[in-house]
Amino acid sequence: MHQYIRDLATHVDQSVTLKGWVANMRVSKTNIFIVLRDGSGFCQAVVSQDVVGDDAFEQAKRLTQESAISLQGNVVADERQMGGYELQVTSLEIYHVADEYPISNKEHGTRFLADQRHLWLRSRRQWAIMQVRNAIIVAIHDFFQGRGFVQMDSPIFTGNAVEGTTTLFETDYFGEPAYLAQSGQLYGEAMAMAQGAIYTFGPTFRAEKSDTPRHLSEFWMIEPEMAFYDLEMNMDLIEDFIKSVVAQVVNRCRPQLEMLDRDIEKLEKISKDFIRLSYDDAIAILKGEKEINGRNAIKIQEEEMAFAKMQIEKNNTEIAEREATIKGGVKKGVRKHNETRILQLRKEISDYEEALRNLPKWIESAKNFTHGDDFGNSDETVLTKVFDAPVFVYNWPAPIKAFYMKEVDGDPRYVKGVDLLAPDGHGEIVGGSERETSIEVLERKIKEHDLPMEAFQWYLDLRRYGSVPHAGFGLGLERLVRWICDIHHLRETIPFPRRYGRLRP
Ligand code: 4AD
Ligand code: MG
Repeated sequence: MHQYIRDLATHVDQSVTLKGWVANMRVSKTNIFIVLRDGSGFCQAVVSQDVVGDDAFEQAKRLTQESAISLQGNVVADERQMGGYELQVTSLEIYHVADEYPISNKEHGTRFLADQRHLWLRSRRQWAIMQVRNAIIVAIHDFFQGRGFVQMDSPIFTGNAVEGTTTLFETDYFGEPAYLAQSGQLYGEAMAMAQGAIYTFGPTFRAEKSDTPRHLSEFWMIEPEMAFYDLEMNMDLIEDFIKSVVAQVVNRCRPQLEMLDRDIEKLEKISKDFIRLSYDDAIAILKGEKEINGRNAIKIQEEEMAFAKMQIEKNNTEIAEREATIKGGVKKGVRKHNETRILQLRKEISDYEEALRNLPKWIESAKNFTHGDDFGNSDETVLTKVFDAPVFVYNWPAPIKAFYMKEVDGDPRYVKGVDLLAPDGHGEIVGGSERETSIEVLERKIKEHDLPMEAFQWYLDLRRYGSVPHAGFGLGLERLVRWICDIHHLRETIPFPRRYGRLRP
């Protein structure tokens, strides 16, 4: 029986066997320092010639990055080491000496890494993200199971659209057209009428040709649906749900989040109340016509521009000073230190320059936002910057939302839809609504949306037999992983991303 790195704390000063791969190694005259990874964590192991003997030491020298090994040794607690422990190896066994590994410690382009996804998954950062993804999945099930929701599996081959007809993947189903599910919601509504409260957790497909950091063509969605819920109760549930998942993940994945340089304090802050804005109010705030506690959306962007300009000047001055120091002739260590700092300052400058290119466009977009439009990416960012909590936007213009959303009482220009926007530019992570209960309204909407009435007869049955107020929402798993890990692109949030222009590996 071998042990796992994650359990080393319970084996201090004992002998253990660890099996894994060489993530990194450094050879000195009489010692080999191996960073071993075993899937449960990373740990430094020291192979000393004195201890293992000349033969084993020579064998170990042949190891390469990603070679597979078994190490026996003593566990020593050492604060300075990664994870807090070090293995002092007494003997080793080699399973396989790996060929030259394509992913080294230097920087690689994202395209290259995406092509190597089957190997890239082994990297420290990808490992941490997948650990967090797993913890999020567990937390989601814990939350709903704890509240008596029934998990349901909705079909993937479907006969009708849910979220508009432009993003359907069509396939051949024994000679008739079928679509890969865009959402399990309509089936979820049927199941909610049987079980009261349910949630789906499955793959969904969107044929959008959008190559953006927040679109996948195959993503995992969690779609709860609750009988006898209105919009308000829906928002309460979303808020409790997100807070509960974030708290559990922060609790269980602190080391992984630290590996990702996630600002954990920001995640802890979300225990405060979420903001709830109607679409109309959200627009007024976005356009800078309405202020919140003296905070003006447009002014915030202008201040950020001024700040970026100032920082660029400051960094340039510091770079000039450090370059002068280097020119003046200094010791190697001092030169290296200055060079590293200059690289960092240049990187900051390029980030500030990017902000200076983007912010004017964002301001333009926010100021010119027209009532009836959907929020663009930058609009969501500008709006959420006014607050330091996630933001709900509810009561949307009917024409830009799906046919099944309930009309606002007395004002059919609006529907009871709700989006939840995550902070720091992460944008929409949840979309939901209270559902239309009236069969007449639904029939009219199906016509207006140019959907085939016949395909929806089974759905309309839900309004013929015991129609009740009900509501639900959809959470995009990868969007949540992206926000919790604070990473830029969804391609890193799922093991093998399927997105526009990418089917392999
Ligand atoms: O807002 P959407 O389209 O809503 C629905 O599908 C409803 N049927 C949900 C419901 O009420 N049961 O999608 C819901 C969420 C979005 O907020 C987003 O997090 C995610 O699914 N999502 C995507 N994630 C990755 N790539 C895409 N192309 C996505 N499209 C939506
Ligand atoms: Mg949406």
